[in-house]
Amino acid sequence: MTANDLAIVILAAGKGTRLKSSLAKVLHRAGGRTLVEHVVRVGAALKAKKTVVVVGHQAEQVAAVVEPLGAETVLQQPQHGTGHAMHVARRALGNAKLVVVLPGDAPLVRAETLKALIAAHRAGNAAATILTAVLADPGGYGRIVRKSGANVSAIVEESQLTEEQRELNEINSSIYCFTLEKLWPALAQVKPNNQHRELYLTDAIAVMAAKGEAVLAQLAADAREALGCNTRADLAEADRTLREWKRDALMNDGVTIQLPETVLVDPEVTAGEDTVIEPCVQLLGKTKVGARCTIRTGSVLSDAILGDDITVEPHCVVAQSRLDDRVIIGPFARLRAGNHLKAGARIGNFVELKKSTVGEGTKAMHLTYLGDAKIGAKTNIGAGTITCNYDGFHKYPTTIGNKVFIGTNSALVAPVRVGDGAYVAAGSTITDNVPSDGLAIARGRQENKPGWASKKRRELAAAEKPKKPARARKKSKPRRTAKKSRRR
Ligand code: UD1
Ligand code: MG
Repeated sequence: MTANDLAIVILAAGKGTRLKSSLAKVLHRAGGRTLVEHVVRVGAALKAKKTVVVVGHQAEQVAAVVEPLGAETVLQQPQHGTGHAMHVARRALGNAKLVVVLPGDAPLVRAETLKALIAAHRAGNAAATILTAVLADPGGYGRIVRKSGANVSAIVEESQLTEEQRELNEINSSIYCFTLEKLWPALAQVKPNNQHRELYLTDAIAVMAAKGEAVLAQLAADAREALGCNTRADLAEADRTLREWKRDALMNDGVTIQLPETVLVDPEVTAGEDTVIEPCVQLLGKTKVGARCTIRTGSVLSDAILGDDITVEPHCVVAQSRLDDRVIIGPFARLRAGNHLKAGARIGNFVELKKSTVGEGTKAMHLTYLGDAKIGAKTNIGAGTITCNYDGFHKYPTTIGNKVFIGTNSALVAPVRVGDGAYVAAGSTITDNVPSDGLAIARGRQENKPGWASKKRRELAAAEKPKKPARARKKSKPRRTAKKSRRR
């Protein structure tokens, strides 16, 4: 259901000076997404009439993230503070009556918490309702000064705290619900009374409270939701929490994760029941893992699609590839983009694949490169097989049929085809197509020379016999090294 009287404003124009970065703050990432993307997505759950993102620093890049998610942007240039940002957003809010304000640097707030905030605001008929949290270390945050019970009299920024107020540990998350007809007149009275000469949205709270309006504070269900990312340490904290929540969600779906704190999973990743993820695994991008798979330690999968009952042995790197049921890869396999491994295929150690299809039950177990190759079913690719897919100008395909045997250390110079049931002798360099059921041998013929080695050894031994001190040597001044060798 759309909340027709509700709009969302996301404050995302700031630079983020404390990050010491050339990238605008809200474009920094935590939990696999930019900060501002998290915020837009959580806002979307409120089904507001519109979402307005205030952009300024790197406005185009921020717009490129939020507009595809259905948000509208307004430009705040220059940035004169959070109160000024609200002034800039005003026109875009149309006839909305309520607004939820979200700072673009707070990625941990949850939809349920925002829904509860709006419900409390409506129930209390409030002018403003502030999402707050009680923190052991409230340093850096604006503090909530309570009047009596649920009512708030002011938010005081860290730099303006009195000695007494320093004891306050309830903080402002910068997440609010406002009744707009109460906010605008209060904001009009706010002055830039601070060292940065900025208009603080927080100062509107005291104005409303002084007028006798209801200003409420609602504690977040989980204090971590109030985290605002101003520093690299805050970003690390946000990342830690988001990753933890994602792993918890997977575990709730029936996935075993060993030493979960070492496992990194991006937000869109899914995994099926009874899949086991070993320590130090990364599942990135849009990776999908089926049921009963084992992803062993040190493996990194990005945008990989895995069927059921698959084993990824330790230390594999897989990108944009599809693995069908019962495939086994690794240890130490590298699958670059564009591979399709069909059911039961096996890829072993130090095998690299690129844009290749490997048929059902086919094996390439050791030290191999398969690029732009299409391989049929039940074929065996011997150790050290290389598809020579590049001639320095263009890439060419290699096609290998069903039940083929490629002997070890073969080079297949593309474009080339090896027919069904064919054999390639070990050490061959294949430049012509191999017919089905044929044998190709493409290497120098072996010639045995009987007695050659013993003759050679005799010759060498004779040549190395210690020579009598040569007279000629006496003529020249003996060198130190020469002396040493004589002593021996
Ligand atoms: C703000 C609050 C503080 C609160 C904290 C919670 C103010 C004055 N202070 O402080 O009470 O405890 O958040 O995290 O509001 N922004 C704009 N335009 C501007 C300035 C900022 O869009 O002109 C955006 C920033 O990009 C950011 C958000 O507003 O996403 C908050 O600004 P930030 O500088 O992070 O404020 P804090 O110092 O964290
Ligand atoms: Mg902040």
